[in-house]
Amino acid sequence: MSTRFLVTGGAGSIGSFVCEHLCRAGHRVIVLDHAKSLKIEHLFETGNLQFVQDSVLNRDVVGRLVDRVDVVIHLAAIADPKRYVVEPLNVLHVNLGGSLLLLDFCSRQGKKFVFASTSEICGKNQAVPWTEDADRVLGSTRINRWCYSTAKAVVEHYCYAYHQQEGLPFVVMRFFNVYGPRCDDLGQGRVIPIFLEKFLAGKPVVVHGDGRQTRAFTFIEDTAEAVVKLATTDGAVGEVYNVGSDVETSILELAETMKRVGGFDSPLEYKPHLEVFGHSYEDIPRRIPDVSRIEAAIGWRAVTDLETGLKKTIDFYRSGGGRSPG
Ligand SMILES: NC(=O)c1ccc[n+]([C@@H]2O[C@H](COP(=O)([O-])OP(=O)(O)OC[C@H]3O[C@@H](n4cnc5c(N)ncnc54)[C@H](O)[C@@H]3O)[C@@H](O)[C@H]2O)c1
Repeated sequence: MSTRFLVTGGAGSIGSFVCEHLCRAGHRVIVLDHAKSLKIEHLFETGNLQFVQDSVLNRDVVGRLVDRVDVVIHLAAIADPKRYVVEPLNVLHVNLGGSLLLLDFCSRQGKKFVFASTSEICGKNQAVPWTEDADRVLGSTRINRWCYSTAKAVVEHYCYAYHQQEGLPFVVMRFFNVYGPRCDDLGQGRVIPIFLEKFLAGKPVVVHGDGRQTRAFTFIEDTAEAVVKLATTDGAVGEVYNVGSDVETSILELAETMKRVGGFDSPLEYKPHLEVFGHSYEDIPRRIPDVSRIEAAIGWRAVTDLETGLKKTIDFYRSGGGRSPG
């Protein structure tokens, strides 16, 4: 049966893959994103996708669009760690304010709200792997980097509260380091496009700290599949889910694997975090999910191993898929 979806941030990296899945399955999709539609233009020919270029902070537009759909997948956010430090106000406005606006309309109109949260929720908690109920261990509010995690956590609280008091159907997805084709521009955003720009230019690749901090790198196509399954499974409603690979990889291993898979010969260099980000940033030493809840709910596991995912990513950027900055 065809369902009508509003995908906010649908012109972003994860959003573009989610829209692909939905359109291919014959669902009707409206994308609300204030960026250009470059990553989803290939879907216009399906006839299933409508693009609205506007902000999730535009109350009139949000109200009208929520009214036209059955399910809202809310992915729009400022999700670039560099921006948490330099524009915390925008991060809070968009990531918290925009989400509350959507939640309010979903609750009043009885629409399902599927929310993109983050592994950053658990902050510095060292007791990995994290279940969805793990403690949140965060730094001071003086450290800007925590505004992103905090905004997402407040939205999670609102989801539970609306569910309990107003009967809102919701699903929260905590993503863990998503990577792949169509992610940030080369040299921008998160670690893989930043490393890749240097590797492709034959320049030294700078590893922050000693490179022993670990992450669970999750391939974007696996992530998009989980989003669609969670959004379309009735039994998934009313819960928070870790959506990630449970394979722990250090940043140093990541750099070495990229070097090998891509056949690059850039040297690896090390730089203290303080020198890179200043005082308003704190790094997270380990960040690994327990994925038993999502596996039990929808039978999903991240199936793409790092080498395969990196090869697809490197091929995409090598063939000009990601623009260089400037
Ligand atoms: N990529 C990851 O590793 C990761 C990890 C954890 C959580 N997330 C969350 O997943 C979601 C999608 O992330 P992504 O990696 O695709 O990021 P992305 O930056 O590629 O996509 C986000 C999209 O939101 C749009 N957007 C930003 N502000 C907006 C506004 N005011 N109005 C309308 N659209 C706006 C952007 O234009 C962009 O297209 C985000 O909510 C992010 O916080 C991502």
